[in-house]
Amino acid sequence: MAENQSVLTSTDNEIQFYDFHPKMSDFYSEVVEGLKTEPKKIPPKFFYDETGSRLFEQICQLPEYYPTRTEQQILEDNASSIAQIIGDHHYVIEPGCGSCEKIKLLLDTLKPEAYVPMDISKEFLQESAQAVSDEFPWLDVHAACVDFTEPMELPFCPDEARKLAFFPGSSIGNFEPSLAQKFMQHVLNLVGPGGGILIGVDLKKDEQILNDAYNDNAGVTADFNLNLLARINSELDANFELEHFDHHAFYNADVGRIEMHLVSQKPQQIKIGEHLISFESGETIHTESSYKYTIKEFQSLGHKAGFNPIKVWTDQDDRFSVHYFEVPQA
Ligand SMILES: C[S@@+](CC[C@H](N)C(=O)[O-])C[C@H]1O[C@@H](n2cnc3c(N)ncnc32)[C@H](O)[C@@H]1O
Repeated sequence: MAENQSVLTSTDNEIQFYDFHPKMSDFYSEVVEGLKTEPKKIPPKFFYDETGSRLFEQICQLPEYYPTRTEQQILEDNASSIAQIIGDHHYVIEPGCGSCEKIKLLLDTLKPEAYVPMDISKEFLQESAQAVSDEFPWLDVHAACVDFTEPMELPFCPDEARKLAFFPGSSIGNFEPSLAQKFMQHVLNLVGPGGGILIGVDLKKDEQILNDAYNDNAGVTADFNLNLLARINSELDANFELEHFDHHAFYNADVGRIEMHLVSQKPQQIKIGEHLISFESGETIHTESSYKYTIKEFQSLGHKAGFNPIKVWTDQDDRFSVHYFEVPQA
């Protein structure tokens, strides 16, 4: 356990909370390192302070943002078939659970013994995990504030328990494909032989639909992107002027990904703690990628990570897919 890690147990609200939140010094060093790289970039995990998590929930409600409602419909329509194929998994682990709304669609049919929501956004996780526990009082909830790009451990999870990882929201698309495969391998080690992963993956489709989804008319995605700079200002002693940066998102067909950037409107210099960072006019910070896959491409990625592809569910327009993979028995 690292120095900043602690285990908090609450008995009155009946959830256990494990705080492995990354240290502020890690946030500072990763941001500075990313802004000194050419081209400039900041990892998308830093979008999610409490404001970022709430803005993401607003994005999920936007008419242009099809992934959330499409995936929810797939889960709702196929809850029984999903539970039947997965069988009895006693522990459901959800890295990057956000609001935990999607697992709620499956809990009555999956009937796990315990649910382990994990997220980097601490206050939002506490609220979401508590809401699951209130709605499903029979369920044992162990919430863990973690960075899932770092090695994860489940100290409270018995080795012999059968484990299912649930990873919806196409969060896998935020990894470069080679790192997505590594992440899948990491999940494989976490759930072990006989375990599985139920994972939501956004599909390749008409570019207009993709571009609209990340450029909504109400400007919520722009606010979400710019909130990263506001967070850096308030937590890392920086002086970004948000009005001098623009949100820019587009589908890059050559590599099959949406790219999200913040574009400097003019030459400017920014201070972050001890560091000065220069921007040319038009220079960007790459803040997120969201890779899109075909079903075959993703099955192949899961297979290369060591999983057996078992079943895929999609919507009628083939916009989104939910895959179930299993770890071969030892
Ligand atoms: C795109 S949202 C998806 C939320 C939810 N799973 C869904 O499907 O609606 C990504 C979620 O993962 C969390 N997250 C992003 N990067 C993370 C990281 N490195 N470690 C832990 N959580 C992370 C965010 O806080 C956010 O709740």
